[in-house]
Amino acid sequence: MRLNRRVPNPPLGARVDDLHRPPTRSERFRAWIEAVPTMRLYLVLTVFTWVALTALIGVGSRPPIERNVPEGIIQSGNLSRIEALLLDPNPNPWTVLLGVAMVVGIELGIAWYFLERFGLRILKTNTAIRIALAASLTILFTALARFFTEFNFNEYLTPIAGLSVIGTMLLGPRLMFLMVVVTSVNIGIMSGNDFLLTTALLLSSGFAIYTVVRVDSRQRLLKAGLFIAAVTGVVTFAVGLIGGADFSDAAWQGVLGLGSGLLSLMLAMVLLPVLEDAFNILTPMKLLEFSNTSNTLIHKLLQKAPGTFTHSMQVGTLAENASERIGANALLARVGAYYHDIGKMEHPAYFIENQIGQINPHDALSPTLSAKVIRRHVKDGLEMGRAWGLPQEILDIIAQHHGTTRIEYFYRKALEVDGDAVNEADFRYSGGLPRSKEAGIVMLADSIEATVKSLPKPTPKRIEDVVTDTINRKLDDGQFDQCALTMREIHQVGEAIHEALVGFLGPRIEYPGGADARNGKSNGKANGKANGKPNLKTAPPREIEGDQSRRAPGGAG
Ligand SMILES: [Fe+2]
Ligand SMILES: [Fe+2]
Repeated sequence: MRLNRRVPNPPLGARVDDLHRPPTRSERFRAWIEAVPTMRLYLVLTVFTWVALTALIGVGSRPPIERNVPEGIIQSGNLSRIEALLLDPNPNPWTVLLGVAMVVGIELGIAWYFLERFGLRILKTNTAIRIALAASLTILFTALARFFTEFNFNEYLTPIAGLSVIGTMLLGPRLMFLMVVVTSVNIGIMSGNDFLLTTALLLSSGFAIYTVVRVDSRQRLLKAGLFIAAVTGVVTFAVGLIGGADFSDAAWQGVLGLGSGLLSLMLAMVLLPVLEDAFNILTPMKLLEFSNTSNTLIHKLLQKAPGTFTHSMQVGTLAENASERIGANALLARVGAYYHDIGKMEHPAYFIENQIGQINPHDALSPTLSAKVIRRHVKDGLEMGRAWGLPQEILDIIAQHHGTTRIEYFYRKALEVDGDAVNEADFRYSGGLPRSKEAGIVMLADSIEATVKSLPKPTPKRIEDVVTDTINRKLDDGQFDQCALTMREIHQVGEAIHEALVGFLGPRIEYPGGADARNGKSNGKANGKANGKPNLKTAPPREIEGDQSRRAPGGAG
């Protein structure tokens, strides 16, 4: 399978102190899985899943409730033979097992082809962990269905919609749909080739996928679960009618379906937080927890680097605003921005936003050394984020929020001192180019916020110029070359950031024309906007520093 190349994650537990907590047991488990060579891991998972599913479905499963009668056998006098064929309670277990093994093998083949074809789109991060989770969930729910069969619970109580809910939240709807089809077919085979059971499971769990796909809080999950339970009841009632049951029997089957839906909801509510933590998979609910400013790591940022904390909160609001404009994941962009500069906690005084009234420590350093200290905040941030169990999507934003931008101020200073002996690579960040839309948005919001903050007298026109200039410089420098953002989206992001900044800085902004203009009486051209939107395509020549790191002796952003 093709995998996204990323900056490798730093080793876990290499350092334990105030800024780095020791890894938990599940983090060690994940690190162990990630350390297994990919092909070996996939091979072991495939063989294990194949054996486990074959055993669960094929060993001692119920005799089939439907049999094919060979052509020509129905003749007068053959009644006993027909009965023997239809009602034979003991089919050859080995041939049944062989058939099941072949079916499961084909299902796994389809799953691998599907992942090979669509894996890049549906498993953007933590590929190995997510595949391990998909295999575990499939085995777990098949085992649950087997438990129901073994203990003679009604099959329609099988809480397969729970698999849909958990799987959709953790793995996404596309992979989940495949898993639901496979599991419904398998449970149908396990229950004696019960086609109507497969139909009921498929319809109710398929419905569950599309009900929870946009759920973003535990309360909404509860509501969606109750809705799924009601629909499952209706589906099983309908299937009961198709199966020839009278109205009251079908209604009882509907009640069982409703029970299955409620059981699914309970399972999802219990298992989801456990699996989120164990596999460290980002869900909207987990993002909300990380967005809480009383979160330990954010709280440490406030204590150790208050200037960086304020900057991060502002970048978060800008990034959220911009993400909403283009339909990207606004919550991920906001939370990613909250954490993007946590690495500055290692040496807060070396960053301009934390230097209020203090001596600038860069005065005592060579430009090369200063750049080294500033570059380090990305690596330190990654180490800290990993130590505190941040999900991979946020780690990627930390790594990529400067792309490979040059730290211009110290680069120029070094050129003045050392001339041609300067190695440009020593002045560029090395966290990799932004890949996701959210990482690209945070990079822009970060850079623009820091530059605008340095403007002595911000006006809407000057802010617009900063936005235009920053976008053009980043584009010229190839910083968006691997980013999922389109050109149109980049400009829309710029517009959204400009509007939000004008809103933020409202009281500080100097409007040409004084108070009248501030009160909205200007004709719109005075603040450089036509139709309320900045013209980002024509960048006027200007002298501002496009990257915030150029603006002052001390990196920001
Ligand atoms: Fe930064
Ligand atoms: Fe920043």
